[in-house]
Amino acid sequence: MTPHQDLHSALARLAQFNDDPDAGGITREVYTPTYRAGLEYVAELMRAAGLSTRVDAFGNLLGRWTGAEPDAPLVLTGSHVDTTLNAGRYDGTVGVLGAIEAVRALRDAGFMPRRSVEVIAFAGEEPRFGTGCIGSRALAGDLTRADLGRLRDRDGVSLARALAEAGLDPDRLTDARLDPASVYAFVELHIEQGAVLETAGEAIGVVTAIAAPHDLRLTLRGAATHAGATPMALRRDALAGAAELMVELERLAVASPTGSTVATVGVLSLSPGAINVVPGEVALDVDVRDVDVAARDAVVDAMLAAADTIAARRRLTVEVETITRDRPAPCDALVVEAVADTCTALGVSHRRMVSGAFHDAMVLGPHLPIGMIFVPSAGGVSHHPDEYTAPEELDRGVDVLAATLQKLAA
Ligand code: HGY
Ligand code: MN
Ligand code: MN
Repeated sequence: MTPHQDLHSALARLAQFNDDPDAGGITREVYTPTYRAGLEYVAELMRAAGLSTRVDAFGNLLGRWTGAEPDAPLVLTGSHVDTTLNAGRYDGTVGVLGAIEAVRALRDAGFMPRRSVEVIAFAGEEPRFGTGCIGSRALAGDLTRADLGRLRDRDGVSLARALAEAGLDPDRLTDARLDPASVYAFVELHIEQGAVLETAGEAIGVVTAIAAPHDLRLTLRGAATHAGATPMALRRDALAGAAELMVELERLAVASPTGSTVATVGVLSLSPGAINVVPGEVALDVDVRDVDVAARDAVVDAMLAAADTIAARRRLTVEVETITRDRPAPCDALVVEAVADTCTALGVSHRRMVSGAFHDAMVLGPHLPIGMIFVPSAGGVSHHPDEYTAPEELDRGVDVLAATLQKLAA
């Protein structure tokens, strides 16, 4: 295992680009000035590693190492450097900075790729605008110009406006379209964000499939009435209905036959929000995931049926808006076996596993061969300031990525 000291100092430096340091973690949301400063730092690292850089019409940053056959389908690798709120310093950044380090190591070893190798930092993997992976969706042609006006962040800022404020033109969305035939394979290095590898004492996860979210916003409406003068029997309490629904959603996910269905209500808003007023309106953002799409959608359907039953009994109304409904992505044997063979050749302990988290690889999966390499997350903690992966585990991940890239680009 090679100590990649530059990687560790770059991760520490990138972590400084943070809009909320007092909260203890990192907040660097896509298209913000802090994000753009961090992205420019990453572009400098790409150029220092000999990559020629460009930013596409949607704000994806790409760094290319031109191969001996520049017109052959290229090997794409990368991840994201935007974060969710009060996040850790490894989610996404390991896959971008680690890829730059892998390229540097291959160049230093005198490897000359036949296929070009391109490192990408996808814009907006985290769901600032409600839906994640917007950069890879733009590449895949999965976003329309209307989506850019419809998708909004928690402050109501539309994706179209955020693009314009970042100096990008929302009307040039289609310029970011990737021709799938131009890509031989995509491989993404990422932290596991769960505790499977640490529990099993294995160094590398060879990802075989990526679970996908079916996300919805449910708005329950009742009556905002006086908290003192309204007898319990006469209430139409939207929050009590939401609470009952959330417990039922948890029960449905636990009971799902696959054992891998997960369900979360991570955002809850209510009005009017005064201690002496019965909540008249509650909005819940629901996230349900599984690698088995039938099992996942069975839980969603059962949840919606429960919502109707609870609302009828409590004389509430229910409004349902779909936020995203993605398809789970199987990884391609070309990449899966390249990663597994690399681990075997390097004598690195590894296991094949499913990714519970989604990634840009999920979005590219229907269009081109994908695969992922996981390194362990301490305690399975992620999307949290305590997110941690030890330096030697990161080094091993870079070694496996470098050897995999060499195999794919040769
Ligand atoms: O939510 C996810 O799965 C990803 O980490 N953004
Ligand atoms: Mn994440
Ligand atoms: Mn991520």
